[in-house]
Amino acid sequence: LASLAELDAEVPEPNRRQQTDRAPQLPASGFANADDSDSSLPNVRAWGREVLAKVPASKLGVDLVSSAAFDSNEAVDVLIERALAAQAEWAAQGGEGRAALLRRAAIELSKRRGQLIEVAASETGKTLAEGDVEISEAIDFANYYALSATKLEQVQGATFVPSKLTVVTPPWNFPIAITAGSILAPLAAGSTVIVKPAPQAKRCAAEVVEALWAAGISKDVLIFADVAEGPIGQHLISHPSVDRVILTGAYETAKLFRSWRSDLPLLAETSGKNAIIVTPSADLDVAAKDVVKSAFGHAGQKCSAASLVILVGSVADSDRFRNQLVDAASSLKVGFPDNPETEMGPIIEPAAGKLKTALTTLGEGESWLVEPHKLDVEGRLYSPGVRTGVQPNSYYHLTEFFGPVLGIMTAKNLEEAIELQNASAYGLTAGLHTMDAAELSLWLEKVQAGNLYVNRGITGAIVQRQPFGGWKRSSVGAGAKAGGPNYLVHLGSWQPAVIEG
Ligand code: ALA
Repeated sequence: LASLAELDAEVPEPNRRQQTDRAPQLPASGFANADDSDSSLPNVRAWGREVLAKVPASKLGVDLVSSAAFDSNEAVDVLIERALAAQAEWAAQGGEGRAALLRRAAIELSKRRGQLIEVAASETGKTLAEGDVEISEAIDFANYYALSATKLEQVQGATFVPSKLTVVTPPWNFPIAITAGSILAPLAAGSTVIVKPAPQAKRCAAEVVEALWAAGISKDVLIFADVAEGPIGQHLISHPSVDRVILTGAYETAKLFRSWRSDLPLLAETSGKNAIIVTPSADLDVAAKDVVKSAFGHAGQKCSAASLVILVGSVADSDRFRNQLVDAASSLKVGFPDNPETEMGPIIEPAAGKLKTALTTLGEGESWLVEPHKLDVEGRLYSPGVRTGVQPNSYYHLTEFFGPVLGIMTAKNLEEAIELQNASAYGLTAGLHTMDAAELSLWLEKVQAGNLYVNRGITGAIVQRQPFGGWKRSSVGAGAKAGGPNYLVHLGSWQPAVIEG
């Protein structure tokens, strides 16, 4: 074993950087609404740009983002040709050959943990703790899909034929983990990949791609293409040579992609409106902690986040659980993500549209238990909001907001609670807190969601142990679950073995 001093000496430079430019921490309680005219208030965007410019991350990551905009259909066609020309040789490496490169990718990602966390914090507002978890998940994806690649190649009498070219459009909210996972799965299956980064997280995507190149995956097999939004993006996504698109994003985006090409082979993980049910048999202390973590982790900007908690029977009738939620939500430390004490950072863009509505207005019968307050100039930093009295089939009950607001609903019994939980068009994650086996059986029989969690928060699926994917409008495509045993199978097809002679 290396001595501790040697290990320390190997830590990449960014991990050891003194953080002297940290922004001020905001108070944990006593939030007041920001007055837009007060120029001393924090400005998240200006801060993020300034910090990002100083992050000593890879030069290539910076160059990729600053110089790589593809702004014509012809430029996109050249990339597609390059990827297609490289595919046969990539597939010919076989599952074992590709797996070896993926395992090296895991090591490259792990070596860059410090700078990846820092780029994610300054570019997207992700806290250091949440960023750390993301890097671990990206590494897990690399090792898991390496294992999947070695198992993929043959079933009796048939050969797996991979897609030739996969276009990946990753999200900004898991800019490292889902970006890495969505790229690594098709690569493991033998497809080439063109990544079109999310506009809000280009630098993160570039850093992931660079780590994979450093692992030995060639720049023709994996192409970073900052393709302009609009018609040129449409040209890439709907190109007939693209035989798989992996999207993580809104259901509306999946619909848009399909409208561009009706036979688009799309594998999409889309929106959610997720709820946790708490019954009288539950351990309320554990439930309160899990609900608050699921609602306000990454400021509620996870497709898996809890937007609702449904209180059953005596939990609904007394104030005890509500008070626990109020205490827990109001004690969260809100602030800039690079302060290690920050528990909830900024939202990705100034609140607008449906999220602004959810943060600023109440529906009929609703009242604030914890009112959210704007804490910065632009409207990117909000304190957490908890509303009670959400009515069945109301706007708040059925609409996805993607921000730091939790709504409380009540139900007379578990059956009624499950109906409320199933009511939206989506079905991504769902939670139940109970200590009663009969309640659990009933719930398992009736709940409609892709990922079910019992006596646990509903975010943070673990690769291999909790394959992740949705139901209803939370998934578009073949029902595949990322980080699960059959995911790669959806990235190609089985062809009968050729019988010689
Ligand atoms: N895979 C992410 C989670 O489980 C979305 O929270």
